[in-house]
Parts: sequence; C-alpha cells; structure tokens
Amino acid sequence: MNEFEVKNLCHLDDIEEGATKGFLENDAGHDLFFVVKIDGQIFAWRNACPHVNGAPMAWRKDAYMDAKKQHVACHAHGALFEPDTGMCIQGPCLGKALESIPVYVNQAGMVSIRVTDISLLY
Ligand code: FES
Repeated sequence: MNEFEVKNLCHLDDIEEGATKGFLENDAGHDLFFVVKIDGQIFAWRNACPHVNGAPMAWRKDAYMDAKKQHVACHAHGALFEPDTGMCIQGPCLGKALESIPVYVNQAGMVSIRVTDISLLY
C-alpha cells in the first residue's frame, strides 16, 4: 500500500453549504465519519459522540445537523457541536470535542482520505 494513495469520497460540489455527508459504513451500518461543508470548507469528524463511548450521532443517513442547520447534533441525547471546531457547546458532553478526521480537497475539488488513514477508523 502506497502511503500517498487516496480514496476519493465525493466532489466539493456534491455537498451543499451547511450540509453533511457520511462515509465508510461499519458492520452495524453506521458511517465511520462524516463531513460538513461550512463557508465552502470541508470539515470531517468521526461519527462517534464523546458522550457515550463513541455512539453514532445521525438520526438517519447523512443527517448530522440540528434542525436550524447551525450545529452538528448528536441525536441520542441532543448534544450540539460547532461544525468547524468539533467542540460540544451544549449537552451532556459540554467541553469535549469530536475527533477530527484528516481529509483533503485537491485543486479539482475532489474530497479524499488517505488509504492509510482509513484503517485507523475501524
Ligand atoms: S450519545 Fe451523544 S449526546 Fe449522548
């Protein structure tokens, strides 16, 4: 395996502003991580709430934002997170943060993750 080998996830334009999209499902059918697009930038977070042992956060596929589409939400107990820093700003894990996942956007707008980083997600 080449350490520079990447897996393409999607194109930047495939994600609307303020929207989220999950990737790489585990055996239980939950995304391992998700990306959120804020001000044209992509931020990626592990789909694991810091409140309860890494519980999955979406209420349905690709639905990681709160109703106002301002914060990432954990739909188990309502924790809210800043989409660009991952910090919990309301809820039972206040002050804790989501785990950042390294993804890259190339000049053509392709969003990708290094193959060597994928193995660390399982
Ligand atoms: S598991 Fe996320 S807020 Fe409780």
